Amino acid sequence: MKYAFARASGRPATRLRSRSALISAVVGLSLVATSVVVASSASAATTLGASAAERGRYFGAAVAANKLSDSTYVGILNREFNSVTAENEMKIDALEPQQGRFTYTNADRIVNHALSRGWKVRGHTLAWHSQQPEWMRNMSGTALRNAMLNHVTQVATYYRGKIDSWDVVNEAFDDGNSGARRDSNLQRTGNDWIEAAFRAARAADPGAKLCYNDYNTDNWTWAKTQAVYRMVQDFKQRGVPIDCVGFQSHFNAQSAYNSNYRTTLSSFAALGVDVQITELDIEGSGTQQADTYRRVVQDCLAVPRCNGITVWGIRDSDSWRSYGTPLLFDNNGNKKQAYNATLEALNAGGTTPPPTTAPPPTTAPPPTTAPPPPTTAPPPTTTPPPGGSGCTASVASVDQWNGGFVAQIRVTAGSSSLNGWAVTIGLPSGSALTNTWNANPSGTSGNVTFRNVSYNGSVGAGATAEFGFQGTGTAPSGSFACSGS
Ligand code: XIL
Repeated sequence: MKYAFARASGRPATRLRSRSALISAVVGLSLVATSVVVASSASAATTLGASAAERGRYFGAAVAANKLSDSTYVGILNREFNSVTAENEMKIDALEPQQGRFTYTNADRIVNHALSRGWKVRGHTLAWHSQQPEWMRNMSGTALRNAMLNHVTQVATYYRGKIDSWDVVNEAFDDGNSGARRDSNLQRTGNDWIEAAFRAARAADPGAKLCYNDYNTDNWTWAKTQAVYRMVQDFKQRGVPIDCVGFQSHFNAQSAYNSNYRTTLSSFAALGVDVQITELDIEGSGTQQADTYRRVVQDCLAVPRCNGITVWGIRDSDSWRSYGTPLLFDNNGNKKQAYNATLEALNAGGTTPPPTTAPPPTTAPPPTTAPPPPTTAPPPTTTPPPGGSGCTASVASVDQWNGGFVAQIRVTAGSSSLNGWAVTIGLPSGSALTNTWNANPSGTSGNVTFRNVSYNGSVGAGATAEFGFQGTGTAPSGSFACSGS
């Protein structure tokens, strides 16, 4: 990693010490009482960035270059955040307004503001159907494919070494139930345009994490989520260089937060990618809004590879959807209830992400190792069932709704490592599988045996692998027969 996490801003030890000294002098508290004050103050971070950093994560905001001269705005930005995304300044129309002529001035103001303070930068976005300059909108075929690849190469090269994560491709899937790619001039250049963009980005900036970013991919049961999941799974299997998936998470009545969000994050993470919440805003107000922010933060903290959250603006008045008052600060820059809930949830803790290793410095396919075990995985509490050699399997999480379910199953190796595993689950009568990930099922109803896929068969002694499935009817529960090889 090239840029360390930001300093824990806004909570310098010296300030705590001098405040304690003042209290002690004025009210004559004993030394013991003073040290208690210090200890309890020091236990909770007082800014979003500092708290996220304590958990090995970043907390970012979308920033507009023309607001960097607004002192209220910059005051909040500098106090609370340790990552930025340019709200518009790194989009294609902004960086390449005429073909082959690149303008980086506004983008650089944002990037330099962040890097000079030791923050991260999310690059947004190299390839997208929207906010294209006119010359690109009018292009098609090979000329467009080449222009897109040139844009990716030029921009990623210009910023090489400065970007933590690039949104290489943004919003390439259709809404609705088709699970299809979105029609666009880029899509019409051929279905492989997305992987071509990722390979060009890797070649240009081998140290940046490369993300696919989209909206309406938060609800695990939605067809669009499943379609993106299958693309990422396919990319990992074929060695297309992808390191992360961004969930925009613009929540409102039409696209509401759902408690299966955690399943979405953990399922993608189990493919071996980081997951990031990239454009968070939640329309609403008061307790309802605060509770949703709290749950989003809790969900990210529960998933070790959810390594950062970015809100899409600072004050409600800065939001692209200001009518929905979806952000953490009000129009005057005051902290909202949603802010307090967010900070509380961050301070309440969570898992620590595994150390992120830099992606490989070439375009060679990344190794398809099994995803790291969740650090929250409980140790096996039951002895392996009779006949099952060396592993146990039980339900890790279930999301059941009227008529359907999603279940996530955890396989835990015994005292020896496994090269492969098979879990047999008796589905309740009337239930049927509709979709399985990270395992191959032998059938769709009754007793179904789920065998590991190529990238998650080897499980170290005591370590875990997870797979999941969606079905109609009722989810299975409890523990299942597991045999290892
Ligand atoms: C939005 C910006 O916030 C607006 O200022 C601009 O007019 C349109 O784009 N998904 C994305 C972001 O990936 O780039 C969009 O940002 C919001 C939806």
